[in-house]
Amino acid sequence: MKKILVTGACGFIGFHLSSALKKRDNFVIGLDNYNSYYDQNLKYQREKVLNEQDINIVNADINDKDIVRKILEKNKIDTVVHLAAQAGVRYSFENPDAYVSSNLVGFVNLLEVLKSFKNIKLVFASSSSVYGLNEKIPFSTDDKTDSPANLYGATKKANESIAYAYHNLFQIPIVALRYFTVYGPYGRPDMAYFKFTKSILEEKPIEIFGDGNMLRDFTYIDDAVEGTISAIDYCNKFDIFNIGNNKPVKLMDFISVLEKHLGKKAKLKHIPVFKGEMLKTYADIIKSQEKLNFNPKTSIEEGLKHFVKWYKSYQKDN
Ligand SMILES: NC(=O)c1ccc[n+]([C@@H]2O[C@H](COP(=O)([O-])OP(=O)(O)OC[C@H]3O[C@@H](n4cnc5c(N)ncnc54)[C@H](O)[C@@H]3O)[C@@H](O)[C@H]2O)c1
Repeated sequence: MKKILVTGACGFIGFHLSSALKKRDNFVIGLDNYNSYYDQNLKYQREKVLNEQDINIVNADINDKDIVRKILEKNKIDTVVHLAAQAGVRYSFENPDAYVSSNLVGFVNLLEVLKSFKNIKLVFASSSSVYGLNEKIPFSTDDKTDSPANLYGATKKANESIAYAYHNLFQIPIVALRYFTVYGPYGRPDMAYFKFTKSILEEKPIEIFGDGNMLRDFTYIDDAVEGTISAIDYCNKFDIFNIGNNKPVKLMDFISVLEKHLGKKAKLKHIPVFKGEMLKTYADIIKSQEKLNFNPKTSIEEGLKHFVKWYKSYQKDN
């Protein structure tokens, strides 16, 4: 039985991953600081579901090295899946310190703890944001990633470099996963698809960058979780994988599917493209297919159907 610590377990991906790992008979313990970046009630709702599955969550910050060390020792953890981070692109303009504290200082603190353990492997969340201003699509892990479009992407790129150094110096097996716009039930309220859903139902305008021709590779949560679990099994040296859907859609087409499931038309408000936003994301997943057997199956139609169903019940109770 694997013994896994999931950091950011009450976040969107952490919640689904923890639950899936537990269903596969692993021992799972979570850590989260329940920060107020978005509605904390949603984090507590996820925690409740995890508690019902006998998954305990430690309320702590990854910067607290003593607590992290104690969790690893006490539970004889063999794998850390590190998802705790300050996510979001726009917020990095408002509160850059949050990105420095969690994504840079917190990341190094975690590696500092891990280096003294033998045989703990690390799978961590990087992001498609590392591809930044790259023009060539689809984005391949062989491409250069030297032009992040914003601080968030830069911290994820830094994580990959720092992780490589720790792997090289202390032989920690590490896999970085570059997630591409993950969506689904219990998703993040700061993300566009969540805000669009809310606004369409409330008959409020939704803000569309430019002409809506942005391309996004939306990855359904169950597919992202499958890829992450394969990466845990695979992790034995240093590697980087794309976890994307490999079928990018135009924002306007995405909105049409959402309108269909909601049974309502969106009111569009076109605004200038936000500087720092990537105009397209598109994952090359050949390597992930070959080495992780990663084959995302969920179409936008199906994924958004599940999301809308969840959103309506969530909205009723909140
Ligand atoms: N969702 C996506 O589309 C996406 C895409 C690319 C990368 N990622 C990355 O995947 C990871 C998970 O993303 P998510 O969408 O679940 O985000 P999320 O914000 O829902 O989850 C992150 C969780 O980590 C916790 N956290 C943040 N800083 C912490 C700290 N210092 N100590 C302890 N806990 C802390 C938060 O409270 C939150 O519950 C993040 O690293 C994110 O950058 C997500």
